[in-house]
Amino acid sequence: METKAPRGTYDILPPDSAAWHYLERVLRTTAELYGYQEIRTPMFEHTELFERGVGSSSDIVSKEMYTFFDRSNRSLTLRPENTASCARAFIEHRVYSGMLPVKWYYVGPMFRYDRPQTGRFRQFNQFGVEVFGSRSPYLDAEVIILLVNILSNLGLIEYELHLNSVGCPDCRTVYREKLIAHITPAKDSLCEDCQQRYQVNPLRVLDCKKQACHQAIEGYPTLAANLCDNCQQHYSQVQKILGDNGVAFIHDDNLVRGLDYYTNTAFEIHIPGIGAQSAVGGGGRYDGLVEECGGPATPGVGFAMGLERLLLALNLLDIQKGEKPGLDVFVITASDEFEALSFKLVQDLRGAGMKVDKDHNGRGLKAQMKYADRLGAALAVIIGEDEVKNGQLTLRNMATGEQQGVAAVDTIQRIKEMLV
Ligand code: HAM
Repeated sequence: METKAPRGTYDILPPDSAAWHYLERVLRTTAELYGYQEIRTPMFEHTELFERGVGSSSDIVSKEMYTFFDRSNRSLTLRPENTASCARAFIEHRVYSGMLPVKWYYVGPMFRYDRPQTGRFRQFNQFGVEVFGSRSPYLDAEVIILLVNILSNLGLIEYELHLNSVGCPDCRTVYREKLIAHITPAKDSLCEDCQQRYQVNPLRVLDCKKQACHQAIEGYPTLAANLCDNCQQHYSQVQKILGDNGVAFIHDDNLVRGLDYYTNTAFEIHIPGIGAQSAVGGGGRYDGLVEECGGPATPGVGFAMGLERLLLALNLLDIQKGEKPGLDVFVITASDEFEALSFKLVQDLRGAGMKVDKDHNGRGLKAQMKYADRLGAALAVIIGEDEVKNGQLTLRNMATGEQQGVAAVDTIQRIKEMLV
């Protein structure tokens, strides 16, 4: 039986891989404009990192992790996200004793055992940023502005930015009790999931997608109305900075995020029209995470975005994903006799920094021309009998079909000029 890629995973074949290169280039260059530098962490970590960091009551940890025991019986987990790993690296390398804040970005695969559907995979790619070591609301705003800037650099100008504050442990503890007291009389009308989690994690009832749960808790006390003075002030500042910088947002009382580490600012960005999985990015502040992972109390803020969803949006909206990949030159050989000669010319052209290829399957002249076209070559060099006799080659502009002779010794120079 044929072996297929596991459910929820996929291959990226050329030419689609070029769109990934383009996307990653935009992500990296935009983040670098804001002073972020790349961090690379392992694909797997000790399971307890995510249990402590992301939180054992979150869906990610309780239902979606790829956890396994290695040959020494250690419990390891394929990373479901990268914020906890960044916090671990921040502590392990004592980055906190250097200059703060540090601003990191990452790109790479994450793994969640979730039900695959459009825009949702079991291995998917995130681009994210994390800032450790500052409480400034300007940094909350900066990461949001960076996220919006990335979208606009990609040509994605229609989005909805949802914003809320989930408070700090102090005000949230009081709020949780209030919310549980509000939910309890209506608990029988909640969906099965919410019935189970409302005592442990009542905030998750707020972002349940089921209409029945929304109706059941109507008139619920909001986070925004129950923030302590510090959290209220922080949230107001973030909103003001966003407004001052022309970033439109929607205050969303239902936005609580599915990971347990958030404090204060929480946000999500949606692109309507890309299906049920419309969140292309999400993030927020996590001032307790580093301490939770065993480091010194250090504030942090960041976000991650899903690359598959960004590409889906670019495809659906028919937005160009960078230059089409192609060759500069294809070398066409009229006869087997000139194989060695054409191979040498290909190497010389590559040595001069051009993208070059040739046929290796004994195709006839016409078929080579078609092949060159298929490979997107800008120019073809034809090595024919007459040409070789006269010390000349023929250059063909593949777009216009125009041909011209060139002295063999001048070929590289001439091609360079034509490609400018
Ligand atoms: P998250 O909301 O779980 O946050 O994921 C961020 C983004 O990753 C989502 O908005 C979505 O675009 C993409 N994503 C998540 N799961 C999948 C999936 N199964 N298939 C495809 N795309 C997916 C985090 O992961 C946090 N670590 C973000 C963060 C960074 N908060 C602070 N810093």
